[in-house]
Amino acid sequence: MCGIFGYVNFLVDKSRGEIIDNLIEGLQRLEYRGYDSAGLAVDGKLIKDGDEEIMNNIIVKTPGKVKVLKQKVIDDKINRTDIFDNHAGIAHTRWATHGQPKEENCHPHRSDSTKGEFIVVHNGIITNFSALRKYLLSKGHIFESETDTECIAKLFKHFYDLNLKAGVSPDLNELTKQVLHELEGSYGLLVKSYHYPGEVCGTRKGSPLLVGVKTDKKLKVDFVDVEFENNAAQQQQQQANGHSSLLNNHSTSLDSGFIPVAPGEQNLRTSQSRAFLSEDDLPMPVEFFLSSDPASVIQHTKKVLFLEDDDIAHIYDGELHIHRASTKSAGESTVRPIQTLEMELNEIMKGPYKHFMQKEIFEQPDSTFNTMRGRIDFENSIVTLGGLKAFLPTIRRCRRIIMIACGTSYHSCLATRSIFEELTEIPVSVELASDFLDRRSPVFRDDTCVFVSQSGETADSILALQYCLERGALTVGIVNSVGSSMSRQTHCGVHINAGPEIGVASTKAYTSQYIALVMFALSLSNDSISKTKRHEEIIKGLQKIPEQIKKVLNLETKIKKLCNDDLNDQKSLLLLGRGYQFATALEGALKIKEISYMHSEGVLAGELKHGVLALVDDKLPIIAFATRDSLFPKTMSAIEQVTARDGRPIVICNEGDAIISNDKVHLTLEVPQTVDCLQGLLNVIPVQLISYWLAVNRGIDVDFPRNLAKSVTVE
Ligand code: AGP
Repeated sequence: MCGIFGYVNFLVDKSRGEIIDNLIEGLQRLEYRGYDSAGLAVDGKLIKDGDEEIMNNIIVKTPGKVKVLKQKVIDDKINRTDIFDNHAGIAHTRWATHGQPKEENCHPHRSDSTKGEFIVVHNGIITNFSALRKYLLSKGHIFESETDTECIAKLFKHFYDLNLKAGVSPDLNELTKQVLHELEGSYGLLVKSYHYPGEVCGTRKGSPLLVGVKTDKKLKVDFVDVEFENNAAQQQQQQANGHSSLLNNHSTSLDSGFIPVAPGEQNLRTSQSRAFLSEDDLPMPVEFFLSSDPASVIQHTKKVLFLEDDDIAHIYDGELHIHRASTKSAGESTVRPIQTLEMELNEIMKGPYKHFMQKEIFEQPDSTFNTMRGRIDFENSIVTLGGLKAFLPTIRRCRRIIMIACGTSYHSCLATRSIFEELTEIPVSVELASDFLDRRSPVFRDDTCVFVSQSGETADSILALQYCLERGALTVGIVNSVGSSMSRQTHCGVHINAGPEIGVASTKAYTSQYIALVMFALSLSNDSISKTKRHEEIIKGLQKIPEQIKKVLNLETKIKKLCNDDLNDQKSLLLLGRGYQFATALEGALKIKEISYMHSEGVLAGELKHGVLALVDDKLPIIAFATRDSLFPKTMSAIEQVTARDGRPIVICNEGDAIISNDKVHLTLEVPQTVDCLQGLLNVIPVQLISYWLAVNRGIDVDFPRNLAKSVTVE
């Protein structure tokens, strides 16, 4: 999905070459999110423009990977040696939504082709872009791309010119507010302009954006004050503007209907950001990194500030100011903390592995352990989830729990629904976020809605979260990415602590989500005496999981051979499971589809005879989950149905289980036995490995499968 990276240096000399390298390196750290094009914008040279001297700009962009952009910078012979002691550069990786991946559609986009006065990069979707485009075309703007983003760049110039005409030279953040007022949809956005050398504004709504800060000096305070407008002044301004937007003012002449930035409000530069002053209250050397993802900032600094929706981060003269695009509401925080990221660079590097996905599969003994670390007292069988503790009594009283998620995260909900219901005795429904929204499903104040997401930024899930918040339900987040929209917008929750997941195929996040949900169910029911034995059994089971996963990972050689010898040339694959293993079958099928592009289907074993059996013959490969639990006899009956039709299934069973006479089974993959509700944690590992090796054998770019993105931030 799209990625944003910006770099600003102040009183730190940097050559253009170093600035470009920084931008490209930032984009490389965003590559894992999936994208189809890349681009950047930096300052060029001072040129004469009439009587004025202006800094022209350099935009380089191209479809393809960041390495193609890197080569293009070389081919375009961009001068690397000019030195800047203050400069703002912006860059972007694009995942096409409006217009194909071709050069004119890549970001950055500019306000005009002659001078390129305003340059923007944007994540998200502007839903009213057609109307804006129509309007701007009618005002003489000429569009160069099919994107929704370009109208943002044009709007900046449009408002800038209108302000100038009215005799006002607007501050960049005031101009940004005027532009934002016209936009509908979602955005993470950076803008730079030669009218504001060395400055950048970054803003967000429904799409993440953070600012990393690097300085040798100690920050005076570890927060930035939010600069609110005087509400009355803003309302007056809005009324004067008919505020109503440009589009509503369509029939009026803008030149007469437009109200410029109020004279007193421009150049708010008298206010200084306390955090960015040195001991003697003078500006200090500093670098800023703006990004949609902490993974691209971590190699430079761990000090970051996460922007809230409607925040405008304005960086100039070595200071960071936060303005609001909306009026202050009661209780709204007046500061943004500068936090310390707990992530290490080596956590996002590949290490000895060929692909991030392989690394992440093999990290599962550690990641599952980290999910439980400090939360389970194994000796006394007590689970404590700090982020939920205060809310447990309310959740216990709720009338139902609705789990809402997409893709793999949805499967982790399915995998744990049954143990949730068993332990809590609260009805649980599991919903795909998009379908839940499509149905406008009824939600009540006494519902608890649990949102599960690796990224915490999935658009469908975030929209569903907003839908539930609007209806007054209690919302809980089960999220991997700290500081993500979902972890900040939910009332309470649990970070799964799986560490950064880079491969598009979710693997370690699945097992950690699974464990976090089981711990959640355990915490909810820890006051029930009748459940004590079951609790102890599950907690003992959880303690052994990391070691047992290690054992399952030893199956890799056998699985590699299975993929090479038997599965490579197949077109389709069925995965059979029931009870706890239905979710494993669905998750295995999703992994195989998305990474190896082989059609595969997860089938509820009980449904076999209701249609799917017609597909079974001696050729169709089938994987059956037949580990021991109360449904084992029924699963065996499904396997018999398959073998009676000459099917030769690959059976995932417990160690030493003489499951079925060997001549009827193609192969067994033996995994350790654990408690029934945890068995899916072990059974999913072989199918993760199967999908990985099928993809490698087929020469597929495992970490970046076609058409997919790590974080799906569009509906
Ligand atoms: C999993 O392999 C997928 N790439 C995908 O289904 C993913 O789980 C889904 O898009 C949800 O993402 P989230 O967990 O970040 O919300």
